Amino acid sequence: MKQARRLDNAPPYLFVEIEENIKKALANGVDVINLGIGDPDMPTPDFVVQKMTEALKNPAYHSYPEYDGALEFRCAVARFYKKRFGVDLDSETEVVALLGSKEGIAHIFFALVNEGDFTLVPDPQYPVYELATALTGGVAYPMPLLKENGFFPDLSIIPKEVIKRTKILFVNYPNNPTGAVADMEQFQSIVDFALKHDIVVCNDNAYSEFTYDGIKAPSILMAKNAKNIAVEFHSFSKSYNMTGWRLGFAVGNRDAICKLKKMKNNIDSGVFTAIQIAGVEALESGDKSVENMQKIYARRRNIAITELKKLGFEFVVPKGAFYFWVKVPDGFTSKSFTAMLLDKTGVAVAPGNGYGQYGEGYIRISLTISDIRLKEAFERIEKLGL
Ligand code: MLT
Repeated sequence: MKQARRLDNAPPYLFVEIEENIKKALANGVDVINLGIGDPDMPTPDFVVQKMTEALKNPAYHSYPEYDGALEFRCAVARFYKKRFGVDLDSETEVVALLGSKEGIAHIFFALVNEGDFTLVPDPQYPVYELATALTGGVAYPMPLLKENGFFPDLSIIPKEVIKRTKILFVNYPNNPTGAVADMEQFQSIVDFALKHDIVVCNDNAYSEFTYDGIKAPSILMAKNAKNIAVEFHSFSKSYNMTGWRLGFAVGNRDAICKLKKMKNNIDSGVFTAIQIAGVEALESGDKSVENMQKIYARRRNIAITELKKLGFEFVVPKGAFYFWVKVPDGFTSKSFTAMLLDKTGVAVAPGNGYGQYGEGYIRISLTISDIRLKEAFERIEKLGL
């Protein structure tokens, strides 16, 4: 069967490939330690599960959900934004519920990008920004995130002819995979650039609650005039260990949100209302549980810093998210090092080249594993004697 041409532009999704390799290793009896995907190892907090159990029994939630999200959910999101970021949102026009942030991130490209248009995407990047651009027939123009620039894009080097044809500029802070966190000055510079050139700016803020050393991640919507041009994406996956539930939301510029809703309404039928009600509970009562998780990731981060230093790896200590972006030793590529690690140690990591051309020469290590298994992974790597 011939696939549609647009699929020719789409490589297999990075984590599908990684999962395949892990499955093969498991089938061969390998005790795999998975430091690949950022899928929290801890369960969804009890109070959220409890709320879901109650909500499941409510027949009012069994029919089609509201397309844009339940009003209760949208209002809870608006309250969360006010409390956490000091940003006012209109729950009617500036909030939409998503089937996980990945869905909304992909759909906003379909809502705004025509064939031949450019998008500006970070490189390295969460692969969906470039993939979704490719599926729309657009052209993703990479903005290198270099260590010497603090993994922040240099907007001054983007050619004028690219800017003129650009529809979306995507950023992601706290950053996956580099762990960089943008400050307000940096967000303001992005918003000013976007306003000047009439480009919709999107920030993927899935890791907003995971920062270290006293840093608190801002929202791009805190920048002056941001709501005239910016949209922000959030996920329940990481903050509340809800990856499997598929719940997220997009907020911000009402025009962009309206177009995203139009795209979505024609493709999906919204998020199961009971899940949204559980999400409301997470937003309203989740502070303690988030604090607890922050401590756990901070502890694992310390383990990784100590072990990576001991092993002589080159890396920048992450300020946010829960990943380490680590240089591979001389003589390896991202792919060959990832394959060798799985083969010789049973440790699975994500190859940096899966995050873009500037990711070549790196691997990403995820902290979504118990302290004991994390330490064991480093012990196994140490035995390689690299
Ligand atoms: C990651 O590990 O970067 C993501 O959680 C994977 C995904 O969302 O597909």
